[in-house]
Amino acid sequence: MSNPLTAGMELGRKAPPVALVVFGASGDLTSRKLLPALAALSRRRQLTDAFAVVGVARSDMDDLAFRKLAAEAVPDADPEWEELVKGFRYVQGDYGHPDTFEALHAVLDEVDESRGTNGNRVFYLATVPEQFGVVAAALDKHGLARLAPGHFGRLVIEKPFGHDPQSAAALDATIHSAFDEDSIYRIDHYLGKETVQNVLALRFANAIFEPVWNRQYVDHIQVTVAESLGVGHRGGFYETAGALRDIVQNHVMQVLGITLMEPPATVDAQGIRDEKVKLLKAIEIMDEDQVVTSSVRGQYDAGWVEGEPVIGYRQEEGVAPDSTTDTYVAMRLAVDNWRWAGVPIFIRTGKRLPKRVTEVAMSFEKVPHLPFASALTRDLEANSLVVRIQPDEGVTVGFGAKVPGSEFRIRTVSMDFAYGAAFIEESPDAYERLLLDAMVGDPTLFIRSDEVEQSWKVVAPVLSAWEAGDVPVSRYEAGSWGPRQADRLIEAGGRRWRRP
Ligand code: BG6
Repeated sequence: MSNPLTAGMELGRKAPPVALVVFGASGDLTSRKLLPALAALSRRRQLTDAFAVVGVARSDMDDLAFRKLAAEAVPDADPEWEELVKGFRYVQGDYGHPDTFEALHAVLDEVDESRGTNGNRVFYLATVPEQFGVVAAALDKHGLARLAPGHFGRLVIEKPFGHDPQSAAALDATIHSAFDEDSIYRIDHYLGKETVQNVLALRFANAIFEPVWNRQYVDHIQVTVAESLGVGHRGGFYETAGALRDIVQNHVMQVLGITLMEPPATVDAQGIRDEKVKLLKAIEIMDEDQVVTSSVRGQYDAGWVEGEPVIGYRQEEGVAPDSTTDTYVAMRLAVDNWRWAGVPIFIRTGKRLPKRVTEVAMSFEKVPHLPFASALTRDLEANSLVVRIQPDEGVTVGFGAKVPGSEFRIRTVSMDFAYGAAFIEESPDAYERLLLDAMVGDPTLFIRSDEVEQSWKVVAPVLSAWEAGDVPVSRYEAGSWGPRQADRLIEAGGRRWRRP
């Protein structure tokens, strides 16, 4: 198996012959992410001619209509994509009906014949979550899941992986009855982001960062996943999720895993995932009292974002007028292990914040003794190291420097590494990376079932205490940095949220 963290650089890394079966082919994810990602892979010659997409959905379409949809999803398509799309097929049907899977079986046999896809399949579940188990079970029942030796059948599944620990376990049981864990590729698209992978390079390919990456030098850590967008047309879905389930249970936990884990023995699927799960197990599980003192749930009211007036969450389409769904979460977490004992980890995520920015910021301890008059160091902040995950990808180190002049004044300055300036290569979209990995068969950047289970264990007590009404919903104005309670959460320990 090739190593995905270097394999992107390997010349000629290509998908093997394979049919990619997309359930939910008429949906938003397919048009917005999957088809453009495939077009980019085709442009980079990372798909062979022995490739086909078979779309499955309930929408009334035929092969031609699906090809048109695929062409339109990629406005700047090149002739190769147009050629590839001509081989795409569509199966219309209900996921609960055997006819759908019999028709799919027949189409896949035809595609093997006409495109040379060789009996290899990647099944991508881009459906609503309620259908995940239904589709997996039906694939098994119709002999599509477990293939003869020499062929592969993999299942790619999108979050949410369950709604709570119990439903996640039930979903896992259904999927495992059809596919082995080795053939299940659970996507967290944050792991496909270059900058998240760069945390591994930063930590383990350099001598200067890892020695200070621990409780002796780090005062606290802040993880921010801020979005300026509201819930848009996803109000109906969002009402059943909320920010804790939508972002914290998955994206934030994965970013924490990569950032705080121990160095893996090997940078491969087992090495990295073993270390991530160990880290997740070290996150302290809060009791009810801790949830009250260490978590903030917020919901946005009307306000202004990026110069435009926007409505409040309760006025969004598909949202109950008295909804208590969280669109903002802030929490203080503790990681009970040798490396991080006593270092508070502050996380926050929210919709309708002032800007879209995701970052991990380490704030370092003060020097043991500052041999300057205090008036001269008024503008000196603690050293910091900020991994800017998006949109302005890079790394910033903040440190003190002497202000030019006859006085010895010291002020914080920053040293920046920006992806855009340092490399001419463009970062591939996360989905390009992950789709190719699933086709090639490399699970390193996908989530293992024990990671899902452990992330739920961290989040579940917070959900239950919230649902029991222990933590009131705090309101915040759209376009602000969240509710005041979140400021109090961090300020209680004498620290402040960064304003990225
Ligand atoms: C998704 C969430 O997983 O991530 C969305 O369901 C959110 O609500 C999105 O907007 C954010 O992803 P990104 O890549 O834009 O940070």
